[in-house]
Amino acid sequence: MLQNFPSMAPPQMLVLPLILLVSLIPSSFSFTPVDNYLLNCGSHANASLFNRIFTGDSTKPGSDYLAAGKSITLANQNSPPNSPTLYQTARVFTSTGSYRFHMKSNGIHLVRFHFSPFSAQGFDLKSAKFSVLVGGNTLVKEFQLRNGTLIKEYILKIESNLLEIEFEPVGDSGFGFVNALEVFTAPVDFILDYGARLVDSSGVEEYRNLSSQVLETVYRINVGGSKITPFNDTLWRTWIPDDDYLVFKEAAKRVASTHTPNYQKGGATPEIAPDNVYMTAQEMNRDTSSLASRFNITWKFQVAPAVGGGGVRHLVRLHFCDIVSSALNLLYFDVYINGYSAYKDLDLSSLTVHVLASPIYVDFVVDSDDSGSIEISVGPSDLSSVMRMNALLNGAEIMKMVNVMDSHVVHKRKILWILVGSIVGGVVLLSVVVGLLAFMCRKRKPKQKTAESVGWTPLRMFGGSSLSRLSEALASPGSHGYLGLKVPFADIQAATNNFDRNLIIGSGGFGMVYKATLKENVKVAVKRGMPGSRQGLPEFQTEIAILSKIRHRHLVSLVGFCEENSEMILVYEYVEKGPLKKHLYGSGLPPLSWKQRLEICIGAARGLHYLHTGFAQGIIHRDIKSTNILLDESYVAKVADFGLSRSGPCLDETHVSTGVKGSFGYLDPEYFRRQQLTDKSDVYSFGVVLFEVLCARPAVDPQLTREQVNLAEWALEWQKKGMLEHIVDPHIVGQIKRESLKKFGETAEKCLADYGVDRPTMGDVLWNLEYVLQIQESGQLREATADLTTTVVTGTPSDSIRTQGYHDNCNSDISTSEVFSQLINNEGR
Ligand SMILES: *[C@@H]1O[C@H](CO)[C@@H](O)[C@H](O)[C@H]1NC(C)=O
Ligand SMILES: *[C@@H]1O[C@H](CO)[C@@H](O)[C@H](O)[C@H]1NC(C)=O
Ligand SMILES: *[C@@H]1O[C@H](CO)[C@@H](O)[C@H](O)[C@H]1NC(C)=O
Ligand SMILES: *[C@@H]1O[C@H](CO)[C@@H](O)[C@H](O)[C@H]1NC(C)=O
Ligand SMILES: *[C@@H]1O[C@H](CO)[C@@H](O)[C@H](O)[C@H]1NC(C)=O
Repeated sequence: MLQNFPSMAPPQMLVLPLILLVSLIPSSFSFTPVDNYLLNCGSHANASLFNRIFTGDSTKPGSDYLAAGKSITLANQNSPPNSPTLYQTARVFTSTGSYRFHMKSNGIHLVRFHFSPFSAQGFDLKSAKFSVLVGGNTLVKEFQLRNGTLIKEYILKIESNLLEIEFEPVGDSGFGFVNALEVFTAPVDFILDYGARLVDSSGVEEYRNLSSQVLETVYRINVGGSKITPFNDTLWRTWIPDDDYLVFKEAAKRVASTHTPNYQKGGATPEIAPDNVYMTAQEMNRDTSSLASRFNITWKFQVAPAVGGGGVRHLVRLHFCDIVSSALNLLYFDVYINGYSAYKDLDLSSLTVHVLASPIYVDFVVDSDDSGSIEISVGPSDLSSVMRMNALLNGAEIMKMVNVMDSHVVHKRKILWILVGSIVGGVVLLSVVVGLLAFMCRKRKPKQKTAESVGWTPLRMFGGSSLSRLSEALASPGSHGYLGLKVPFADIQAATNNFDRNLIIGSGGFGMVYKATLKENVKVAVKRGMPGSRQGLPEFQTEIAILSKIRHRHLVSLVGFCEENSEMILVYEYVEKGPLKKHLYGSGLPPLSWKQRLEICIGAARGLHYLHTGFAQGIIHRDIKSTNILLDESYVAKVADFGLSRSGPCLDETHVSTGVKGSFGYLDPEYFRRQQLTDKSDVYSFGVVLFEVLCARPAVDPQLTREQVNLAEWALEWQKKGMLEHIVDPHIVGQIKRESLKKFGETAEKCLADYGVDRPTMGDVLWNLEYVLQIQESGQLREATADLTTTVVTGTPSDSIRTQGYHDNCNSDISTSEVFSQLINNEGR
């Protein structure tokens, strides 16, 4: 074993990691339920199954568990050789009889019945027919098992300190039986009362009070993996492979990871599903299909059919862990259940702390159809780039909501506890797995009007949400949603050394930007609004609620805000290498290579595309420029400064001339005609950035000759002459392949079309830029006219490049108000 690790560190260096490891192991495999009753029924001996000891239920006569009623013990005299000891005995109830358990904990519990019928002493257990009641409610009605062994599992809320489980034979000569019984406390937050998505023909809505339902497990599937026995499961469950349920096997391809999942606060835990579920998945099988073809992977499960016009309600819990992507925010897919859209543009990276391959789950509530099937599909989202179209699923659980029949009310009055019904406010704290955060419902009611009036699609934000690591450093414990992003003014003062001028890293229309360090050494950029420069507080808050939810690899995240003392302060993630502009010209930083530049443009385009079409659909950036595209330590582009003042008193000249939004040289000329900014205005500005990146010169340079002042005009002229190579940054001129330059020039030219309708969408731009990079990289394509769908593309653009760089951040552009008036004059001519 040791020789496999030639570069092993000396022993003393292993001490720390070892301690860490040791402290980690129990947390992943040590779930100890508060209540944990395991009974070997009809026996006085203990029996073990998958390393768990089931205690004999008749250890002493009239033992703790066995309550009133006539019952006998039965032992199988000729049991098959491999049958577990646990199943060789049974308790047989010849009249209604029950077990009683003293419960130490209330809340969600798992109850399992093991049935393995055999014949002995004149009893043929296969002919037994009986109902099982839990707390007077019938969970299993007139049950009969003719064959094999069956474990029935229920997940239910227990709110009393005494649990009674009754077996009630059907008919006078009937009898009931059970071989083994499990009753144990579920992990905290196993079933959450919010955040489940009710999916039906009318769309998606939140489903509340899930914990008040009795759930019966119907399917538990380890998608793309092998069978997991109770031995390897944290809650002693069995997971089976998905192959038998795939509708079209060729659509799916198994993937497996060798790394244990990155469990994160806010995501799934090993108790929700074990490692093995998250380490395997089915993804889209692209081996036989063309790169650009779209299709779903579909699984079909047989469940209880609809009765009397109403479908039977089921909980569908889907498990995800992105084990296929090389970086965050590359995978977007849609989830459908029974043909309805259940989750659109699912971006796993945005659901938990920003870590790849961190497990999450999403709960859906659906009704079965008349044929009694539930169909689950995953397929690529419209947001996926052509080369990265994929979708995946790691696990699925289907649980039927048992319509409990409370048929024994009178008879049961003495029972001290109630199974369902009243809900004592579930204590569900931070570890939100899927959740409609409190603020959303608050938001949706009173604020809806505001949001709609400014053109936001009504947000359906529930389903997966948690605070990022950064926000955790900020959030007060227990707080939810954007309120949790509220930062006390005192903390900001401390983090900025009381707004130390030496920490100023930029200034703009909004105010000063400071580099700050929060507790836990988290670096952030703090933007302090100039008093009076801002719109009203409610709009400010609404926007923050939205912006704080946007998590994208290519967008700078808002991680907090402060509105005390009439201050309006925004806290952003700190982006190490600062604005793209600095890396292009004027600062003496080493020039970026052509490939780096392309990758940066692709990243920024992806971020913008997401703003326009993604989760935050419809946000127009309004101020795209090279100072608003920041680079992180790996030169990954992050678009900054989006979304704000969208709901302000409309973008008018005052705004522009005060430099809040829209910068000269980047501004959409159509804006002057229509007085209206659209997402195509962002495309125009982005076109300017593309030329800026190519030529390494400012969008406006008043020092130059008249024809050269405006980059867009000047570059377009060269582009139209087909002589773009004449104005390429000399640092990269030798690196660019002709076809790559040609396509790049065409793309930028289209962005700069006079009319918005003639410009491509950001999605098209992204697509084209990825293509430019492919041409540059592949070296196989001669003609830039090739169409991607007919081209064999090898490899995908990588999003990170490593080179050395230098720290910087936002800086103000040339004085916008000054040049703006110049521009108006120009236009007026
Ligand atoms: C059965 O197991 C219980 C604990 O699970 C233990 O206390 C008891 O001694 C065992 N009885 C026998 C007979 O092994
Ligand atoms: C019982 O199982 C056997 C084989 O396992 C099968 O042939 C038979 O059809 C089953 N009977 C019922 C009633 O399911
Ligand atoms: C859901 O729970 C809330 C509080 O927990 C309760 O007020 C409400 O009546 C419950 N709704 C249903 C349908 O049980
Ligand atoms: C399950 O556990 C057993 C015993 O620890 C181990 O040998 C086996 O490899 C495990 N299976 C999986 C799929 O992890
Ligand atoms: C995937 O399935 C859904 C629901 O049946 C359907 O609306 C959608 O068009 C399918 N997508 C593809 C690419 O086939």
